[in-house]
Amino acid sequence: MKVTVVGAGNVGATCADVLAYREIANEVVLVDIKEGMAEGKALDIWQKSPINIYDTRTTGTTGDYSKTAGSDVVVITSGLPRKPGMSRDDLIQTNAGIVKSVTENVVKHSPNAIIIIVSNPLDVMTYQAHLTSKLSRNKVFGMAGILDTARYRAFLAEALNVSPKDIQAVLMGGHGDTMVPLPRYTTVGGIPVTELIGEEELNAIIERTKFGGGELVKLMGTSAWYAPGAAAAQMVEAIVKDQKRVFPVCAKLDGEYGIDDCYLGVPVIMGKNGIEKIIELDLNDDEKALLEVSRGHVKEVMAVLDKMN
Ligand code: NAI
Ligand code: 2OP
Repeated sequence: MKVTVVGAGNVGATCADVLAYREIANEVVLVDIKEGMAEGKALDIWQKSPINIYDTRTTGTTGDYSKTAGSDVVVITSGLPRKPGMSRDDLIQTNAGIVKSVTENVVKHSPNAIIIIVSNPLDVMTYQAHLTSKLSRNKVFGMAGILDTARYRAFLAEALNVSPKDIQAVLMGGHGDTMVPLPRYTTVGGIPVTELIGEEELNAIIERTKFGGGELVKLMGTSAWYAPGAAAAQMVEAIVKDQKRVFPVCAKLDGEYGIDDCYLGVPVIMGKNGIEKIIELDLNDDEKALLEVSRGHVKEVMAVLDKMN
């Protein structure tokens, strides 16, 4: 399996590293626009192979997409990250141009690839990749839900003093402050989380999750990369190993949840065909109302993109 990662910055290089050391693909190609960056990071990852014991071939290129030809999966991380004080939506103009040109090159050389978008604002950049690639919705989608759910699970593990391995959760909606964590679908070793934690503490964790990206931007002056890179790699793994994993991804809704023509985080089954099924949960009225707020926000930013295009 051949996987291309576009953008050899913090998230892209981390994703490529996870793909290599976990031998998720046989071949990983890193692409960047900055001269030598992708080649250098790919060489560094390759030189780690005798230490970490893996044989995934990792190479890099400055913008030569012929080297990416025939990729099975492409992860797009190219674009500006957030700086303190910026929202993800502030990145729209610059990143839409980058995602558009990158997607054109990707599709030209790998017409059968499945495309995973990471660049922000995530839901709308996924929409941009869909518009440019004209691929069916099962083959172009975005990474956010695995990351946001991981943050929620990590905070819960800390609060309950249990292993994060035992926390299962699902989170829906856009990748932003309107995301919708779902306590009703959160369990700890099979036990509903509400039996183990008080409402006030749980609500504080939900709020922290919603602003989890911003918390890291404030600390580091740029956005996160370890968890985002690993989350994108987990999606690639589900595809190349046809694992039928169940997790939230940013997908195009065509009537599911009563929502049409909108990219939003929903639980899916992921396998060799990309999104193999969108799972429709039986949301209660409160959860539906929160999802509606999130849909409204994403739709507004999608409209901004439509105007720009
Ligand atoms: P970074 O600045 O470390 O890396 C971005 C890389 O993209 C740079 O190396 C840059 O040279 C490259 N690039 C820019 N234009 C390009 C082009 N036309 N072709 C190829 N490469 C190009 O940024 P970082 O931290 O890796 O973040 C990347 C993106 O991912 C940002 O938009 C960020 O907001 C987003 N992000 C999304 C997350 C999510 O959950 N969906 C989580 C974390 C970051
Ligand atoms: C994150 O959630 C900024 O989207 C990026 O870390």
